[in-house]
Amino acid sequence: LAMLRRLAWLLLYSLSVLLLSSLLFLRKEAKPAGDTTARQPFWAPPGPRQSQCPPNRTVANASLSLPSRHRLFLTYRHCRNFSILLEPSSCSKDTFLLLAIKSQPGHVERRAAIRSTWGREGGWAKGRQLKLMFLLGVARATHPAQLLAYESAEFDDILQWDFAEDFFNLTLKELHLQRWVAAACPQAHFMLKGDDDVFVHVPNVLEFLDGQDPAQDLLVGDVIRQALPNRNTKVKYFIPLSMYRAHHYPPYAGGGGYVMSRATVQRLQAAVEEAELFPIDDVFVGMCLRKLGVSPTHHAGFKTFGIRQPLDPLDPCLYRGLLLVHRLSPLEMWTMWALVTDEGLKCAAVPRPQ
Ligand SMILES: *[C@@H]1O[C@H](CO)[C@@H](O)[C@H](O)[C@H]1NC(C)=O
Ligand SMILES: *[C@@H]1O[C@H](CO)[C@@H](O)[C@H](O)[C@H]1NC(C)=O
Ligand SMILES: *[C@@H]1O[C@H](CO)[C@@H](O)[C@H](O)[C@H]1NC(C)=O
Ligand SMILES: *[C@@H]1O[C@H](CO)[C@@H](O)[C@H](O)[C@H]1NC(C)=O
Repeated sequence: LAMLRRLAWLLLYSLSVLLLSSLLFLRKEAKPAGDTTARQPFWAPPGPRQSQCPPNRTVANASLSLPSRHRLFLTYRHCRNFSILLEPSSCSKDTFLLLAIKSQPGHVERRAAIRSTWGREGGWAKGRQLKLMFLLGVARATHPAQLLAYESAEFDDILQWDFAEDFFNLTLKELHLQRWVAAACPQAHFMLKGDDDVFVHVPNVLEFLDGQDPAQDLLVGDVIRQALPNRNTKVKYFIPLSMYRAHHYPPYAGGGGYVMSRATVQRLQAAVEEAELFPIDDVFVGMCLRKLGVSPTHHAGFKTFGIRQPLDPLDPCLYRGLLLVHRLSPLEMWTMWALVTDEGLKCAAVPRPQ
């Protein structure tokens, strides 16, 4: 009987716990969806703080017919001053190549892959000083701010600003990167700006740069000419006539990755500061270059649209003449690294998978 009574108590106890937790769960769910701070766990980042910069309501009203992302961009386009949340130490006086890689707080694996493969200092960089850093905004989704602070303390390569991570805010990254470089890294001979899913063949890039003078204008990459603004509202790159009227974009280097000389970085800084922001960052840089009278140089070694299908993307011979390849997963990055750094690997002897 005592046993039975104990069992009954236990049952009652577990039932009440279940009831309580489901009640709590319901309460949690019932919180208004718009209130993002309430739904975030305690360790989550505070999110972009209420900016000092108020929206331009005239612009918001005038752009009611546009997709919401475009409206948001236009409404806050005049906001150009955001503070630095995390930053790496300045460049050393011998920094040859600054690797400025656009990333996002959640892309931890991509950063890890880059740090331990092509972004490494040492033999691969042929004695040249590299400085690797990642450019970040603040994620809307919950990514623990402490984790990022830890990563920053551990690797000293995180440059984060207090604006929302968004495709249309990449131009803000460009503007703020320019300011940071002017203040903390004006001496770097060259700068490579790219995405966190590119594989950079550093020795090939350095070999190419050996023949270049950092005091001369240079912007080299996968140059796109006569590109038509996309007028289809359904597409990510949609640009309405009201935002860009001309027929074509000026020539620009695909944002997956391109290299600039110190002279061009310096001149771009002034142009970027003066220009009205445009949501597509590589086109925006093209617009600034045109104003400066600098034409971007095309180099077939920059594969910002990846490599075409018939070729085996993991054939190391393919990478012989390449400087940069876009759209690799962290796993592909590691595999590529293993292949291109394998001294014993003979190009011709690599069997092609059937
Ligand atoms: C809002 O934008 C309009 C149009 O660009 C401009 O004329 C106006 O001065 C802006 N207002 C504020 C408060 O910035
Ligand atoms: C924008 O539209 C709202 C709602 O129609 C109106 O209350 C507000 O005064 C308008 N603001 C401006 C600056 O035109
Ligand atoms: C940003 O800062 C600069 C210099 O401090 C200032 O001239 C400018 O008005 C600021 N812009 C905005 C939108 O706050
Ligand atoms: C860019 O960031 C600012 C500041 O966080 C934010 O107000 C704005 O909405 C963002 N723009 C877009 C298009 O998300």
